[in-house]
Amino acid sequence: VLKVYLDCDTGVDDALALAFLLGSPDVELLGIGTVNGNTSAVQAARNTLGLLDLAGISGIPVAVGEGAYRGGAVGVHGGNGVGGVALPAGGEPDPRTSVALLRDLVRDNPGEIHVVATGPCTNLAKVPDLDVASVTVMGGAVRTPGNVTPRAEANFRDDPQSAATVLAAPWPVTLVPLDVTMRHRWTVADQAALRAGGTPLHETLADMLPVYFESYEPRLGVREIPLHDPLAAAVAVGALTPSDAPQLPLRVDLEGAVREDPSAASSVRVVLALSEPGAPVILDRILGFRSRPLP
Ligand code: BDR
Ligand code: CA
Repeated sequence: VLKVYLDCDTGVDDALALAFLLGSPDVELLGIGTVNGNTSAVQAARNTLGLLDLAGISGIPVAVGEGAYRGGAVGVHGGNGVGGVALPAGGEPDPRTSVALLRDLVRDNPGEIHVVATGPCTNLAKVPDLDVASVTVMGGAVRTPGNVTPRAEANFRDDPQSAATVLAAPWPVTLVPLDVTMRHRWTVADQAALRAGGTPLHETLADMLPVYFESYEPRLGVREIPLHDPLAAAVAVGALTPSDAPQLPLRVDLEGAVREDPSAASSVRVVLALSEPGAPVILDRILGFRSRPLP
């Protein structure tokens, strides 16, 4: 069983990453921290708690992160971060900050936790000394255009300094950038399959997707959605295997743009391609979710 911690800005595709992890039988989700990004860290915690409630899962602590809120990505993820869908109230957030929660979990599971980061790197940048097994970050545009500026991706643009700190941290870091995430997408057929999944979680996730489809359709010229965050989760837990993942020395500038720089202090594994289509693997795992006790 893989022990996983999710740091997220829930967010439509963050919700898919959460569902992916909940549907992974070999994953024990120990805790979730939220960060300002697609929506505020407080709203992201509400969204996460609502999703866990829909999934019939209790006992996974959800803690709110710190840092500044830049106003979110309403056009991509809707006003509440989850496509305007009303979720159940869910439980209360953990009283600790997300950084304190992560520290406590690592103290109890030294060297064992796989961290998946699907929002800005604000929280993780505060704890570069933590003894974790791996850190997988969705973020950056390395050899491909950005999605919020010509060169910057949203998570890195929202907190470039924290992204730079995390890339230079002494962890085994794997970066899952737009280079790969833009190429693994769901269609409306996947949305229909999700809806037919047979639980409130599946139906609600399908309800969240229209806003996300609408934001990407003009950019892509087709009605498809990139699976940024669930791809990072899938790579982190080994459900998808990279076929091209060089160690690259990277720098992040103050606008959140990434560039390869041989003089950069450290290098990270950058996933540029996967050995199989990611979209069906993600769909299957999410459909495999049944309200079940965690291992
Ligand atoms: C990333 O930014 C957010 O909008 C998504 O949730 C994803 O984490 C993609 O650039
Ligand atoms: Ca996200």
